[in-house]
Amino acid sequence: MQLCSNIDQIRTKLLPLRDEKQTIALVPTMGALHQGHMRLVTCAQKMCKCVVVSIFVNPKQFGEGEDFDNYPRNLAADQTLLEAAGVDYCFAPLTQEMWPDNNETVVETVRLANILMGALRPGHFRGVASIVAKLFNIIQPTHAFFGEKDFQQLAVIRRMVEDLNFPVEIIGVPIARDQDGVAQSSRNKLLSSDERRAAAIIPQACAAAAQCYANGERQTASLISAARTVLMREPLAIIESIDLRDCQTLTETPILLDRPAVLLLSVRFGQVRLIDQHIFNVTEDIL
Ligand code: PAF
Repeated sequence: MQLCSNIDQIRTKLLPLRDEKQTIALVPTMGALHQGHMRLVTCAQKMCKCVVVSIFVNPKQFGEGEDFDNYPRNLAADQTLLEAAGVDYCFAPLTQEMWPDNNETVVETVRLANILMGALRPGHFRGVASIVAKLFNIIQPTHAFFGEKDFQQLAVIRRMVEDLNFPVEIIGVPIARDQDGVAQSSRNKLLSSDERRAAAIIPQACAAAAQCYANGERQTASLISAARTVLMREPLAIIESIDLRDCQTLTETPILLDRPAVLLLSVRFGQVRLIDQHIFNVTEDIL
């Protein structure tokens, strides 16, 4: 694996591949890599000739008082993991090169960026869309891979790609989970051992809503209430939001009828925010 720490370097490396019309995968990350990221890498390797993993803790997607300074960083360990996995290139630029002082352009999916997690974290999805747009322009991948855990992020990126005609195929990859069902996330590293144990309540809440649905319940309010009841059993869990939305548009859906819907949970343990989701494949049920 080759490490490229500036834009010219990675562009020069990828030029011959692009000339040969080879498939190039981009797996954008903020480092602190875990099995969830490696699952994205495996999917990328199956689908593309060359795999580029970017590592950049993007300051523009962290609000004031959020965990930018504490966000886990370990480039050496990340490199070892990527090397062992047979990744072709790791692109790890410096902040000053990605966001020079005179930058002023932003990319914003106006509606999607400001609902749900976007309302809790103003500016977050603008920061995400702006950095992902830059990465797409720098790497010019044919395919880009994102985890389905960050469901709203995936929706924002799909919207941006369609709206701005980026010639890239977006692939969503299912969540990787620990043995107790907790979704893998770089932020899990920030939990105390008690908080990590308590976090298992999140997949249990998703399972409760799924069970309620399996029993025939279709009212959004009842499915949300089933998840909330379980979360409330855990004293360390601070519920930030529970929503059930249309999978594609993320608009409210009072009753699950004929379109896939997604349950979105945001729960804090101390200062650490964890998110998770469960998809109700309504269309599969009515086929
Ligand atoms: O999901 C992430 O790790 C980040 O939001 C991303 C997509 C790498 C943009 O910084």
